[in-house]
This record gives sequence, structure tokens and C-alpha cells, in this order.
Amino acid sequence: MIKIGNIELPEFPLLLAPMEDVSDPPFRRLCKMHGADLMYSEFISSEGLIRDAMKSRKKLDIFDYERPVGIQIFGGDEEAMALSAKIVETVEPDLVDINFGCPVKKVVCKGAGAGVLKDIDLMIKLTKAVVNSTHLPVTVKTRLGWDTEGINIMEVAEKLQDAGVKALTIHARTRAQMYKGEADWNYIHAVKNNPNIEIPIFGNGDVDSPQKALEYKQKYDCDGIMIGRGAIGYPWIFNEIKHFFETGEILPEPTITDRLLAVRQHAEWSAEWKGERLGLIEMRQHYSNYFRGIPHFKDFRRKFLEVFTLGEMDGVIAEAADFYKEFSY
Ligand SMILES: Cc1cc2nc3c(=O)[nH]c(=O)nc-3n(C[C@H](O)[C@H](O)[C@H](O)COP(=O)(O)O)c2cc1C
Repeated sequence: MIKIGNIELPEFPLLLAPMEDVSDPPFRRLCKMHGADLMYSEFISSEGLIRDAMKSRKKLDIFDYERPVGIQIFGGDEEAMALSAKIVETVEPDLVDINFGCPVKKVVCKGAGAGVLKDIDLMIKLTKAVVNSTHLPVTVKTRLGWDTEGINIMEVAEKLQDAGVKALTIHARTRAQMYKGEADWNYIHAVKNNPNIEIPIFGNGDVDSPQKALEYKQKYDCDGIMIGRGAIGYPWIFNEIKHFFETGEILPEPTITDRLLAVRQHAEWSAEWKGERLGLIEMRQHYSNYFRGIPHFKDFRRKFLEVFTLGEMDGVIAEAADFYKEFSY
């Protein structure tokens, strides 16, 4: 069993990554249904939360059925981070996660996200400000370093642990890599094998299949794996990995019917959470992902994009189900 503070997770948990505009409650609910063990909100700006920006507050919505769930915050100002951790505490998540990995310019410029990888003193001050202002366990998600010359994850991991962080997720890329190149998990292995490190170390970056998950688990010795892009439009990945770990068998891919049902479920939960029209507009980013690699989907995609109500969606789903019933997938 893995523990983060007093949160108990199964041996080798699979985590759903925090992803802006993706890891919202409807998507998290699907991932939970398909086996995610710990999930995070989209990142939330500490300054936005304090200004009470509606969008930031909405990101604080969490539901009991998704526990354990963490809320992720970012920011470059100690006071704002401490205060936003207090605000986060009011909605009672299981943990607070600090984002020290976001490579995007508008975040980095404010000394937030991966910006602190160039200023470890600031990183530790921000971390302590959060740890001291909440009774919730605090975790961190970060990258290897600013760039290849500045890889400092070993020092960062030790200092974060000393500052009171209860688990660390490492996205095995530098800030300079953004999302390009391959993630280098050798650094995760090195941190995990540092005898001074006692907190759980979760590996992140490029895991998109059960085979890769098993290979990385065995090779890099981390305490669990966090999955981001591999789960977008494919929430089945969590149980597929678990099944492979347990039996060595690859589960059959979801059928067209499974995919249509998942889209319908996702849309229904989005409509409940955001309102029907907005929920369905925001579903648009997901269709291609749910049907990745499925032949002849183009026409149905166009039809899905024109849908504004669940009733209209049911029409497109019925048509697609009818069309694909002659195919063996
Ligand atoms: C659309 C998108 C949004 C993301 N938003 C966040 C975020 O809000 N917070 C964060 O820590 N990382 C964010 N990330 C990074 C992911 O959490 C993850 O570290 C990265 O995608 C690498 O993992 P993967 O290869 O499994 O996708 C985002 C990534 C994507 C693709």
C-alpha cells in the first residue's frame, strides 16, 4: 500500500494527470469508473482564486465519488499561494498539489509553474507557505529541470521532502522540452533510488499503453504512474493497465458501442455540470479522441460538432451505431 499523508492508495496506483480544460469533474468521473486511483483537478491560479474569478472557483468543484482527489494550484507569490491553499481547504479535497511544472510562458513569466526550476529558494518558500497554511497533505508535480544543463530534480526532490511535501510526481522532461522529445525516466529511477528519499515518487510522461506501463514500472522502480494524454478520449487505459499487470493479458479494445456509450455518458455529465449547451460545446474537443483510429468517423464527427442538446446527440449516436453495426469493431 502507498500512503500520502494518511491517504491510502493501492500498491502501484495509477493517477490521472491534472490537465487544463480536460481533467474536469465529468472527465474525472469517467476515469474513476475505469480505474484511476488518484485524480487531480485542472491547475488553478492562486491569484484567480483570490480574485474569486468564476472560472477558477468552478474548478474547485469536487464530488465524493471521485475521492481521493487533489486540487492543483499554481502561482509565484507566497502570500497568494498560502491564501489560496486555505480557500482550497474549504471544499475539502484529499490533498493540495502544487504545480511547479507548467512550461507555458504566461505562467513561467510570473515565477510560477516551471519558472521556479531556476529559483529553488523561491520554490521552497512557496512550498512552505502552502504546507504551513493547510492541514491537508501537500504534493508537488514538477519537471526534471529548466533545460538539459539545468537538470536539478535530485536536489529539488530532497528539498521538497524536507519542506514537508508528502509525494512528488516527476514529468520526465525539462521545461525547455515543453512536450517534445521523449521523457527520460532514468532521472525518476535515480530519485527513487536516493536513500534520502522516503516520500512516494510517481513517474509521468508518455505512458500510453499497458505494455509501456509495465516496462516503466519494472525498469524505473517508481511508486506509481501518472497518465495524461493517454487517457484523453481513452479512459479505459487505467483498467487495461491494471488487467495487464495482474494477468499479462491485453484486454480487447473498446468497441464502437463502448465508445459511443462513453461519449454519451461524458456528455451527460458535462451537461449536468456546465449546463446542456455549454457542456455539449465543450464536448467538441473530445470526439476525435474517442474515435481515434476508427475508419469513416469523419462524417459523424461533423455531425457531433453540430450537436447542442443530448437529444440531438442521441440521434447522431443512433445513426453511428447503425452504420458501424456491419463492421467488426
Ligand atoms: C491539454 C493538457 C493540459 C495540461 N494541463 C496541466 C495542468 O493543468 N497541470 C499540470 O500539472 N500539468 C498539465 N499538463 C501536463 C500533464 O499533466 C502531464 O504532465 C503531461 O501531459 C505528460 O504526461 P503524458 O505524457 O501522460 O500526457 C497538461 C497537459 C496537457 C496535454
